Amino acid sequence: MDLKKLRVNGKRLRNSLEEMAKIGATPGGGVQRLTLSAEDKKARGLFVNWLKEIDLACTVDEMGNIFGKRSGKNNHLPPVMSGSHIDSQPKGGRFDGILGVMGALEALRIIHDSGVETERPIITVDWTNEEGSRFAPAMVGSGVWAGKLERDWVYARTDIDGRTFGEELKTIGYMGKTSAESWPVHAYYEYHIEQGPILEKLGKTIGIPKGIVCLHWYDVYLEGTANQVGPTPMEGRNDALCAAADMILKVNALPTKMGGNMVATVGEIQNEPNSRNIIPDKVHFTVDIRSWDDDLALRAWDELKRDFLSIAKTRGCPIRIEETWRVGHAPFEEKLVRRIHDVAQELGYSNHVMVSGAGHDASYMSQVAPTAMIFVPSIGGRSHVEVENTRWEDCEAGANVLLHCILRSAMEE
Ligand code: GLV
Ligand code: MN
Ligand code: MN
Repeated sequence: MDLKKLRVNGKRLRNSLEEMAKIGATPGGGVQRLTLSAEDKKARGLFVNWLKEIDLACTVDEMGNIFGKRSGKNNHLPPVMSGSHIDSQPKGGRFDGILGVMGALEALRIIHDSGVETERPIITVDWTNEEGSRFAPAMVGSGVWAGKLERDWVYARTDIDGRTFGEELKTIGYMGKTSAESWPVHAYYEYHIEQGPILEKLGKTIGIPKGIVCLHWYDVYLEGTANQVGPTPMEGRNDALCAAADMILKVNALPTKMGGNMVATVGEIQNEPNSRNIIPDKVHFTVDIRSWDDDLALRAWDELKRDFLSIAKTRGCPIRIEETWRVGHAPFEEKLVRRIHDVAQELGYSNHVMVSGAGHDASYMSQVAPTAMIFVPSIGGRSHVEVENTRWEDCEAGANVLLHCILRSAMEE
């Protein structure tokens, strides 16, 4: 068989994505499949059934990561791996994460249908809690697997209702017995939507990230003095929400102040007691700082923290800061990046080398295995929103690039 002629079945890929999009479908056309929720459980069940349909050996580890393995001729050789995540943001999109899981599944379906025997085994994976929205931080399934996060620390993380990750993992029935520990991997490819505007702007089909920016997450807790808003004079108030407002604007101004390539965001806030006629006395908000330059991001945080302390003092609001999570910028393996480029060229897809501003499990994977990613355009550059969209022909194109990258790596002796 001429392997070069193999192509994924675009219609089947689309059907699988559409089936998955029904699980946790939102009225606005997106999905809400928060990690370890009933929807996550249902989508995992469907994924496992699909793995079994093509005779993949399925395992679930103690982090709930799901692996589907196809044997090769030499099963003692390190496998080729590919996958992404099934969980989504609240009111998230139909492509983030799931495209990489369904894309790898489609590649394996085609390999299965064609009966190709590869030298190496191939494993597809769904990593648990990539998003980090319900349980912070993000990418914990791959993080523990790669030995970069502590399993029990992750188990003890809580959601906004105080439920722990460990309990919820058990509740959905995905706390497997196998330990979440990395094994040697020959190559890890993750297929994903770009989640930004660059490819569309340039009119390119395939994005080839040379790596992922660093991600630094912080949690800030402020205390104020609650009181009746009417009789309490403006002077002398300790308004925790006003302190937060001053701080949030500092975060927004940080990239301009620091120069270089950086973004900084406050995306989540809780205000208590959250009544229009009580001065707020408890506020929690998050800070997310990203850059290709880790030192710049760290220096930015030092400056920001100084500003936070000074604002807290001026507003008379005690402050507590948690440095929740940091993952360094992740350069990908040059050989694999080149391979993605070569495959895209050979298949006739226009392409562009870039940097990923979004976090991915490929970040932790790059610390333990040769890793690279394949991007396809996001319409309007929109992602983490219900209108997130990617053209079906682009989904198919990216899956074809993935298929041939997997095949090339899996044929290596
Ligand atoms: C992951 O979705 C991220 O925050 O980039
Ligand atoms: Mn994602
Ligand atoms: Mn995401």
